[in-house]
This record gives sequence, C-alpha cells and structure tokens, in this order.
Amino acid sequence: MRLVLLGPPGAGKGTQSARLVAKYAIPQLSTGDMLRAAVEARTPIGLEAKPIMERGELVPDAVLVGIIGQRVKEKDAANGFILDGFPRTVAQARALDEMLDHEGLKLDAVIELVVDETALLTRMQNRVDETRARGGDIRADDNPEAFKTRLDAYRSLTAPVSDFYAGKGELKQVDGMEPVDAVSAAIEQALSR
Ligand code: AP5
Repeated sequence: MRLVLLGPPGAGKGTQSARLVAKYAIPQLSTGDMLRAAVEARTPIGLEAKPIMERGELVPDAVLVGIIGQRVKEKDAANGFILDGFPRTVAQARALDEMLDHEGLKLDAVIELVVDETALLTRMQNRVDETRARGGDIRADDNPEAFKTRLDAYRSLTAPVSDFYAGKGELKQVDGMEPVDAVSAAIEQALSR
C-alpha cells in the first residue's frame, strides 16, 4: 500500500498515519518528523530548515525531494509507505510521480482530511496543552503566529496539490471533523472503494 495523506496543519495526518502503520505494517514517512530530527541533530539540512520551520514556512522543494527520494528506497518501505506531509507543493507532487515512475511503482490512494479552519487552531492548542501536561517539548511552530503562516502556506501552496491529484482522478476526501475513530473508519472505507 502506497498512500499519501493530505490535509492542513492539525488535520490529523499524524494521528491517522500511526493507526495505518499498525494496520498495514508499513512505515509512516513524516517529512515534519524527519526535519525535526535533522534540526535536533544539527545536520546541514537541519540548520537550514530550523529558522524556516520556526516561521511556519515551507522548506525548499529540492531539500524535501532529496530526503524522500532516499527514504522511499530504504528496505522497510519496499512493501509500501504512508507519506505524511509530502508532497506539499505541486512541484513535490510531480517529483514524486517521477520517482515512482522510475521505480515502476504507483500510488494506491491519496486521502485528503478535510477540516474546518476554525477547528485547526483549537487542535494545535490542545496538542500544546497535552504535550505540556506530559512534560514534553512544545514544537517551535505550535504558536499562533507560526500557525497562521503554516495555514497561509497550506492555502497557497498545498491546497493546489489536492487539485493536482483530483485532476488525475486519484483524490479521495474524508471528513476530518469527525472523532478520531470515525475518521479512521472513513479512511478504511475510502481505501476499499
Ligand atoms: P508537519 O510536521 O508535517 O506539520 P503539519 O502539516 O503542520 O501538521 P501537524 O503535525 O501540525 O498536524 P497533523 O495533521 O499531523 O495533525 P495531528 O495528527 O498531529 O510540518 C511541520 C513543518 O515542517 C512545516 O511547516 C514545514 O516547515 C516543514 N515541512 C514538512 N514537510 C514539508 C514539505 N514536504 N515541504 C516543505 N516543508 C515541509 O493532530 C493535531 C492535534 O489534533 C493533536 O492534538 C491530535 O490529538 C488532534 N486530533 C487529531 N485528529 C483529531 C480528530 N479527528 N478530532 C479531534 N482532535 C484530533
């Protein structure tokens, strides 16, 4: 199963990816997690990405295409993967198509979690509160100012990715406003269509 999960910041991509990992025994390839690990390890990519991510902007396409190009070739992704946070621009979507074509592979599904913008800020704030309550590190971009920039980037650069896949007849939309279990069930239903 080769799957792309699309949706705005806080839509539930990470939450649903974790459930799909358990169900299909394929890895979650979260570009946000990979970049945060690079920032933490102070690699050259991490040093470049850190201020960009803190502002809530997108890291350059070439960096992400390079990261994913390597990652999908790793052994644990041989039977499939869940892309969480990639592609985030039409240029990234085209690069992914080229990568897959080159390997003779194709996506099984592109699922978009559709969530009202008004709910997203609340979800981000909930995540901050939950993280703080368990003594974890708050994400540097989980604050109202960076979140606004993340939403702006989503609207202008990532929403067109849904149109790109819709144009190819590959997009399946799921109501992400429902409770987590109901969203999981809707994804399963979409995957069986
Ligand atoms: P990334 O880490 O991908 O962040 P994001 O897309 O902003 O998404 P989030 O992780 O905030 O949300 P999510 O949709 O995973 O929701 P979650 O399940 O956590 O990217 C971070 C940054 O990295 C970017 O801004 C950019 O700088 C850079 N980057 C990453 N990829 C890139 C790329 N390809 N190109 C360029 N730059 C890139 O849920 C959120 C909260 O809601 C949680 O508290 C959860 O418990 C709750 N929740 C989940 N589902 C529900 C539900 N159904 N009902 C109620 N609450 C729910």
